[in-house]
Amino acid sequence: MRYEAAGLTVLYVLTFLIVLPVLCSTWRYSVYYRGGESPDENDPSVLSYFSDVMTSVNDETDERPVFLLVTIVTVRREGHFYLSRVVARLHQLLSAYNGGNGNDGAIRAMICNVDRDPELHQEALDLQTIYPVVRRDVQQQPISYNDLMDKEKDDYIFCLNASQHYHEQISIKKRQSSGTYYILVLEDDAVPLDDLLPVTRRFIDYLKMRRSDDDRDFFYVKLYHPERLQNYWQPEPWRIAEWIAVSVLSVFLLQVVLGLRLRRHSLWIIYFMALTECLGRPHLLQFKRWMFARLASPAAAYNLLAATECCTPAMLFSNTSAYLASAFLSSITCKRGYAKDTALYLYARQSGRQAFVVEPNLVQHVGRVSTLRFN
Ligand SMILES: *[C@@H]1O[C@H](CO)[C@@H](O)[C@H](O)[C@H]1NC(C)=O
Ligand SMILES: *[C@@H]1O[C@H](CO)[C@@H](O)[C@H](O)[C@H]1NC(C)=O
Repeated sequence: MRYEAAGLTVLYVLTFLIVLPVLCSTWRYSVYYRGGESPDENDPSVLSYFSDVMTSVNDETDERPVFLLVTIVTVRREGHFYLSRVVARLHQLLSAYNGGNGNDGAIRAMICNVDRDPELHQEALDLQTIYPVVRRDVQQQPISYNDLMDKEKDDYIFCLNASQHYHEQISIKKRQSSGTYYILVLEDDAVPLDDLLPVTRRFIDYLKMRRSDDDRDFFYVKLYHPERLQNYWQPEPWRIAEWIAVSVLSVFLLQVVLGLRLRRHSLWIIYFMALTECLGRPHLLQFKRWMFARLASPAAAYNLLAATECCTPAMLFSNTSAYLASAFLSSITCKRGYAKDTALYLYARQSGRQAFVVEPNLVQHVGRVSTLRFN
């Protein structure tokens, strides 16, 4: 007994004061993160990607119906090539996806230029050769906004409507009925990760299947939630349950695998709770994804959970919910403390519509400073 207490003390000191501070100093979401090792923001290889790429000529000849439209909302960001990075990555993923032999639909993309002065957004103008660009002309904007949050919201409405309109045009051109389709709205600093398209597809199929039960569409699915809000120390009951479950399981495995006969169970459970929180839950989610990729398929590591408030870098809507969202947003005024993300979240709760979040994230949020605020 006394040995166990001494051993535990040594273990706590070793773990939290010596091993973790050294091991995790470059782990971005751990409590020991000391900065450094940030990915190169203005990776010049992005620009060379476009010089190698043939513009999307085969889009026009693709006869499959478009079940998903990816719309990138963009404004000027001096000194950064966020948009190019997003478009390059998306282009890679889309080419692979559409080139696959699925007959059940294609994915298309467009860029929505909502800069105050769209003519000055040179990066978006240059990318017209890759994806079609729609823009919100100066005449369509009020002369001034009381609050930037409200401009952000109007931009979003414009892009949602433009997406619906563009999908309609494609369908007419192909002489197909548009049917149910989906719109994924990405902000221009949300770089797609490898699993984005297959996992989105999987959840679309899942939600479609579920829908036949009660005939009500989901309102939105968030494909990104800020990592800093993904930790255990958050007031979400299911996450606290997960925290305890993971810790209890770890103690159990320790006993079984190492054949230890532990007595001070509560201290061991607290040890693992502290350990997982200090490592950072986003890292645990990455580890889970890595495990699933080896044991099953990476897509199996993603979960659909009830939506949490905050942030709209990557939002999935159905054609019906996109209509609903733009109609709702058109009826409100946004201000500090009531931005579009909060408004949508509250609306979903009040109207009893289902909103989800996917975990782990399917995009990487690279814009440390958004044009408007910290995000
Ligand atoms: C969305 O698609 C469904 C299925 O085709 C259709 O019935 C519905 O009217 C569409 N919704 C809107 C708002 O266009
Ligand atoms: C966008 O569509 C919604 C819903 O149809 C409508 O209420 C709103 O006026 C439209 N706004 C713009 C800017 O087109």
